[in-house]
Amino acid sequence: MAITSVIGGQWGDEGKGKIVDFLSENVGIVARYQGGANAGHTVYIGEQKIVLHQIPSGILRQDCITIMGNGMVLDPVGLVDEMNMLNNLNIETKNRIHIALNTSIVTPIHKAIDRASETATNNRIGTTCKGIGPTYVDKYNRVGIRAFDLLNIKSLKEKITARLKVAENNNELIGISISSIKLELEEFYKAVTQIAPYVKDTFTLLHEQIKNGVNVLVEGAQGTLLDIDHGTYPFVTSSNPTSGGITTGLGLPISKIDRNIGIIKAYTTRVGKGPFPTELFDDDGKQLSNIGNEFGATTGRPRRCGWFDGIAAKYSCQINGFTEVALTKLDILDTFEEIKVCVEYEINGKTTKSLPSVMHRLDEVKPIYETIPGWNKPTCEVEHFNELPLRAKEYIGYLSDLMETPIKIISIGPERNQIISR
Ligand code: GDP
Ligand code: IMO
Ligand code: MG
Repeated sequence: MAITSVIGGQWGDEGKGKIVDFLSENVGIVARYQGGANAGHTVYIGEQKIVLHQIPSGILRQDCITIMGNGMVLDPVGLVDEMNMLNNLNIETKNRIHIALNTSIVTPIHKAIDRASETATNNRIGTTCKGIGPTYVDKYNRVGIRAFDLLNIKSLKEKITARLKVAENNNELIGISISSIKLELEEFYKAVTQIAPYVKDTFTLLHEQIKNGVNVLVEGAQGTLLDIDHGTYPFVTSSNPTSGGITTGLGLPISKIDRNIGIIKAYTTRVGKGPFPTELFDDDGKQLSNIGNEFGATTGRPRRCGWFDGIAAKYSCQINGFTEVALTKLDILDTFEEIKVCVEYEINGKTTKSLPSVMHRLDEVKPIYETIPGWNKPTCEVEHFNELPLRAKEYIGYLSDLMETPIKIISIGPERNQIISR
């Protein structure tokens, strides 16, 4: 029996979906602990591209069941869409999705508040407008709706009607038509009746299965630098994607985790606003974007691209306690003559290797780069580590030394079999 966690080590979209899919072959449960439909986890099975937003990626392995933990903010309407998408692909969802009783629920009101707030501030954060922040606000304000509320539709309707009044009175919905929210609520209640049977005591389920020796995979969403506590605040999401979120978001003690894998891209990307020290605006940036096909899996927005940030990656390894790293999208660097890696930040004429010391002024730092020769050979068909071009192996070794963490998985393409383990 083993418990493994998969956590985004940068600003999200590192390839968590692909790595979870790869690792879930002999796993009985895949569980998510935070975030919601802001996530977009892409898995390719042959030619078939599947993007999952809320359902853990383990649903694609037929022997796997999934848990949506209490730390998540769950959108019932989005969940029904996702279940329909899977059913159309002949993937069974019945008895394979389990929603914790105390999971927070995103309603159309929360999505509208998110939209209204972003519109009023000219997209201050650049959120996904999936209602994530407003739902967590209600959770921490102790007025949230939780999954067990879905089991009593009459009292649910009363709570929602009251919440809508509060939103109107507090001017949380400026520019949003109330009648459109009421229409969305009709669809919401339909979705609620469809997903209510999936709500159960997942805490007992999870712990019983662990006791029975079942392998468990914990699937993070977003990434370390988007963490509400440890990320580039305020340009973050409203949850804890870092490993600490597992304990609170699933009721799974961190001491139970055997293997804690950081998913880290061979370069860096970011969607939405906020500081990004190694961001590129030149041809190299365009090349990373084009070859890497860097467009958001949830919103379709172009992802900002830049070189590998060794300072951010090292911080991520420290804060999460990664026992290993899975390096993804190495193949995207195949055609670069030279590759740069940020090894220090410069600020006010001084240099630092400490991200937290400059987190509050990260937009002022200048990256100091080390230049590494490229390998200029395709890697996408390599099956064993030793077959990788020497310079690719050197690049991997260099990043591993910077992060002081072993890189044990290397991903060299979007498909299931384009992966090297060592
Ligand atoms: P996630 O949110 O961390 O699951 O990542 P996304 O799915 O949002 O974005 C990662 C994108 O990169 C997806 O389109 C994946 O299919 C793709 N991908 C993952 N790993 C690799 C890789 O090693 N090479 C290439 N070329 N694409 C990859
Ligand atoms: P996955 O799981 C990349 C970003 C948004 C925005 C900020 C806040 O696919 O890696 P939110 O809607 O959460 O309030 O938006 O966080 N963001 C992500 N960026 N990948 C994600 O998820 C993200 N989820 C949220 O773009 O900048
Ligand atoms: Mg994504």
